[in-house]
Amino acid sequence: MKILVTGGAGYIGSHTVVELLNAGHEVVVLDNFSNSNESVLNSMEQITQKSFSFIRGDVQDKDLLKKIFEQEQIEAVIHFAGFKAVGESVLNPLKYYENNLFSTICLLEVMNLFHVKKLVFSSSATVYGNPSKLPIFEDSSLSTTNPYGTTKLMIEQILRDMVVADATWSIVLLRYFNPIGAHESGLIGENPNGIPNNLMPYIVKVANQELPQLQVFGNDYDTKDGTGVRDYIHVVDLALGHVAAIDYVKRYQGVEAINLGTGHGYSVLDLVHSFESVNHISIPYQIVPRRPGDIASCYADVTKAQKLLNWKAQKDINMMCKDAYHYLEVQKKQNH
Ligand code: WQD
Repeated sequence: MKILVTGGAGYIGSHTVVELLNAGHEVVVLDNFSNSNESVLNSMEQITQKSFSFIRGDVQDKDLLKKIFEQEQIEAVIHFAGFKAVGESVLNPLKYYENNLFSTICLLEVMNLFHVKKLVFSSSATVYGNPSKLPIFEDSSLSTTNPYGTTKLMIEQILRDMVVADATWSIVLLRYFNPIGAHESGLIGENPNGIPNNLMPYIVKVANQELPQLQVFGNDYDTKDGTGVRDYIHVVDLALGHVAAIDYVKRYQGVEAINLGTGHGYSVLDLVHSFESVNHISIPYQIVPRRPGDIASCYADVTKAQKLLNWKAQKDINMMCKDAYHYLEVQKKQNH
């Protein structure tokens, strides 16, 4: 199929484009490089030895979207483009509501115009808020604690209403848990512009001696070692989940929310110790107060993905840590 990937130069987007190309799909990438850069495009071609179309632009540009749909026979869309920093969204909610909601509405209007009604949406486990019980099922209660998460929940609702209005839409809402790691080549990986938000980029900065130590946000949670527990998933496994979701929307109509996680929870210190042992490196850390808004534990029930998508995460926490560090080493060599 020919697939439009919005935000396809981003961390998860680029890994997904690689796996789509590997699976034989044609890909059109639309990205404005707000949280990515041009070098990723060459890396994706280098990894796959395949070419794809790239348009630099914004999903809010309806005329540009119309031009893409006029020129390319798009059959389905994977929509990654959007702002995703939780902390920033609290400080600047309007930026998040305007960008994430308006870009999605523009995309849906143009898809409708061109009768393209197959969509995989990049949602997030953040829509579950603070879970009352674990593991988290797709029909667990939904609540959000920050504007970023609320944009994801609102977009999920918009998409459900689209299907009520027109049952010929095929939509999968992929709820990611905590994606980390990098492609085994080390050519693409997590390289957030500016100050990172998430745990693994901070661990990598400590490994790279850009930071003296990791700040562990609290060790007084009700977890095995007091630090936060999350369902970390290798970004390549996550990418393969998108390939499976494209196959699904090709065959079925309606809307389905599906968790993409491993079903296992690991604490902050589990991740630090795994990173240290597989990479033979020390990651000094200091326990500091909790980060406001953090939850204690979060991990997925993954039976629905297995059942509907015939997909299951394959890579373990050690592989995630190994690939994250290998990416850093390859990038350092390339930049020398
Ligand atoms: C993980 C754990 C922190 C940094 C966020 C978004 C979510 C999704 C994934 C987009 C927590 C601890 C972190 C640090 C630390 N993103 N930590 N020191 O908060 O689970 O989820 O990213 O969809 O929407 O909410 O991920 O990596 O920030 O934190 O101790 O320097 O690591 O307290 O327990 P989080 P995270």
